[in-house]
Amino acid sequence: MNILWQITCLLLLCSCTPGFSTHDGIVGGKDSVPHSRPYMVYIRDKITEQACGGFLIREDYVMTAAHCNIHCRNLMVYLGVDNTNNLPCGIEVDAFPHPGYKIKRPGHDIMLLKLKTKAILNKNVSIISLPKPENEAISKNCMVMGWGWRKYDEESPSNVLREVNVTLLDSKNCGTADTLCNQGSVGPAQGDSGGPLVCGNYVQGIVAFHKKSISLTAYTHISHYFSWIHDVMKPPAQQQYETWKGKLDKFI
Ligand SMILES: *[C@@H]1O[C@H](CO)[C@@H](O)[C@H](O)[C@H]1NC(C)=O
Ligand SMILES: *[C@@H]1O[C@H](CO)[C@@H](O)[C@H](O)[C@H]1NC(C)=O
Repeated sequence: MNILWQITCLLLLCSCTPGFSTHDGIVGGKDSVPHSRPYMVYIRDKITEQACGGFLIREDYVMTAAHCNIHCRNLMVYLGVDNTNNLPCGIEVDAFPHPGYKIKRPGHDIMLLKLKTKAILNKNVSIISLPKPENEAISKNCMVMGWGWRKYDEESPSNVLREVNVTLLDSKNCGTADTLCNQGSVGPAQGDSGGPLVCGNYVQGIVAFHKKSISLTAYTHISHYFSWIHDVMKPPAQQQYETWKGKLDKFI
């Protein structure tokens, strides 16, 4: 059977993509203490109202899943949200999906959103650290969060942020090399795409897809993408320098 038919798109209101079923939800877990996860970002398309999670990794960058951009050229991000009935002003972004990502195919499901207005950090809005390249060992005890569905087979998004603990499987059992995964009846659901998989003090994964037949949820393994992330997120000064250098090289 084609792998596409086994994968549940975790986008909320994912009516757009044939072959993706709308089956799952953050099932289990509990409501997060309000503003206790200040790096968490709510993302919504202005037109389709498709929702995703994401997380702030620098004052000017949010990380999420590439499939959150399928039909969405109008993403807005909302920082410091607890209840989605109570959204602050949204911030517009430029989207940088990983160039290797292909719609309806697993893999390279990672995207950076550059904020057009930098985040103002405070008690409710903060940055989560990416793992250090040298810290290869990952704690298997992780937490995942989002505003997605709370029940299987029933549209039940949550207005308040919810979180659940998951235990990672050995990566070799995850199917593809660039993913982390967990198996079982609790975990991210429809609408939780793009949210962070937090293990210890670091974000290690991005909620990517769910394989219904074996109750497996997969997360993009962030550390596999360090060099791409670094290229996209070069500090502005360095980008300017390289532009200059490019001009000078041509000139010479
Ligand atoms: C954080 O959120 C709470 C509750 O929504 C609000 O009362 C408070 O003013 C916010 N703090 C900051 C620094 O924005
Ligand atoms: C996750 O595990 C931690 C540590 O064991 C615990 O304190 C926390 O309440 C758990 N969270 C949930 C949502 O069950």
